[in-house]
Amino acid sequence: MMHGKWKILIVDDDLSISRSYQKYLESEGYSVFTANDGREGYIAIEKERPDLVLLDINMPVKTGLELLEDLNRTFDKKDIPLVVMLTAYGELEHAVKAMNLGAYEFLAKPVPLEKLRSTVERALETLTLKERIAHFIEPDNTPFKDSIIGRHPLMIDIYKTIGTLRGNKATVLVTGESGTGKEMVAKAIHENTVPDEPFIAINCAAVPENLIESELMGYVKGAFTGATANREGKLEAVKGGTLVLDEISEMPYEFQTKLLRVIQEKDFYPIGATEKKRFNGRIVALTNKNLKELAENGKFREDLFYRLNVVIISVPPLRSHISDLEMLILHFIKKANYMMNTSIQSITKEAVDFLGSHAWPGNIRELENAIFSASIKAKDKILTRDSFSFLVPEKKEQNDIKSKQNTMPDFVMPENLTTLREVERNYISFVLKQTNWHKGKTAELLGITRPTLDKRIEEYDLRKDD
Ligand SMILES: Nc1ncnc2c1ncn2[C@@H]1O[C@H](COP(=O)(O)OP(=O)(O)OP(=O)(O)O)[C@@H](O)[C@H]1O
Ligand SMILES: [Mg+2]
Repeated sequence: MMHGKWKILIVDDDLSISRSYQKYLESEGYSVFTANDGREGYIAIEKERPDLVLLDINMPVKTGLELLEDLNRTFDKKDIPLVVMLTAYGELEHAVKAMNLGAYEFLAKPVPLEKLRSTVERALETLTLKERIAHFIEPDNTPFKDSIIGRHPLMIDIYKTIGTLRGNKATVLVTGESGTGKEMVAKAIHENTVPDEPFIAINCAAVPENLIESELMGYVKGAFTGATANREGKLEAVKGGTLVLDEISEMPYEFQTKLLRVIQEKDFYPIGATEKKRFNGRIVALTNKNLKELAENGKFREDLFYRLNVVIISVPPLRSHISDLEMLILHFIKKANYMMNTSIQSITKEAVDFLGSHAWPGNIRELENAIFSASIKAKDKILTRDSFSFLVPEKKEQNDIKSKQNTMPDFVMPENLTTLREVERNYISFVLKQTNWHKGKTAELLGITRPTLDKRIEEYDLRKDD
């Protein structure tokens, strides 16, 4: 934008302050006007159309906050100048209100001139970007609700299939590359069928081979050394709910026969038990492998494969529903703002275009990570093309090999992401809030033990009331 001189309006009833700011800012090359109270300030804004307003809060006739409210009511959003609030000691609450009314920043009086200069400069920098902004993220105070995003026909098909699952307990196989949203689909199945029943997920690759049976089936007291009491397995604990078997291809071959039986007969024997128990839930199996191929090569039981291959949901890679990209970007910015306590307000068109040109070998998870990293690093509540400079374009051939092998994408670490500790602290704090400080649930959701959670809470000095 060709802007000649930036116009700054100072609204303050303390003339010695506005004079000294005016002199200083003029020496920095800005064109500066002053007004003595909120009413005069409003008139000056209408007349001079400043790019930025330095606005005092406490003033006779009309306060800074009232002026800000007037602007919000009577001006088009895009015509409201940037507002930097000047607050005296004890006015912090007003400052918070001002931020909610869209003020860019607030500075505590007395403002050192150097601080004034850097804030004004930073604020005006965002203004040069403003004309290219693709989306404003409306601040809303409703708690963030995670849900499946996407309107591409391939996604609509998934919603339709999920719709057919209500009222039955059909086994579902969810396939798709890494990071496409398989777990998300499993949760959506649960939410849309039996939301009040338990939802239990186990990762077959993470449970040691010799434990998978006791994990799922449970055991009776005395079944083996160490079995000092009866233990309920997940098949029982899930009741009428949803049991997710993630990475089903990694289920031990021997155990696959037993699982097949559960699916066919809807019952099972806990280890050492002589009486059967009923299985009342639904199994949702997830895989990023080609199960059919594995079955053909003797790496997965063929009979189990056919049992699983009834209701199939194949979640598309992000590149196949790239028209959903913008919706997903906005969703993840809101998610970052909520989970990481960032306050991103907008994203530029260049940034959106750049994200659109990326290959996304790691699919939606890679996109989510990219938005989170960029949001944490962002300095001005705005995501620009530069915020994503850590996304290295993949070489084409490499990419092809990757998608064929279906391996995890390389994880590209941004250069100056705050620290992993900080992300960890925020994430733990987020989950604690979600569970209302239910430590058992929190530990389970985070996949760590209770003692580890307690240690982290102490280490990060997390408190229920903050
Ligand atoms: N359609 C979507 N809408 C909103 N968020 C999504 C969507 N798909 C995936 N996500 C988010 O992306 C991340 C990865 O999704 P998810 O864990 O379901 O992938 P996955 O297919 O199970 O991956 P993997 O095979 O690596 O386990 C999650 O944080 C999830 O919330
Ligand atoms: Mg997963």
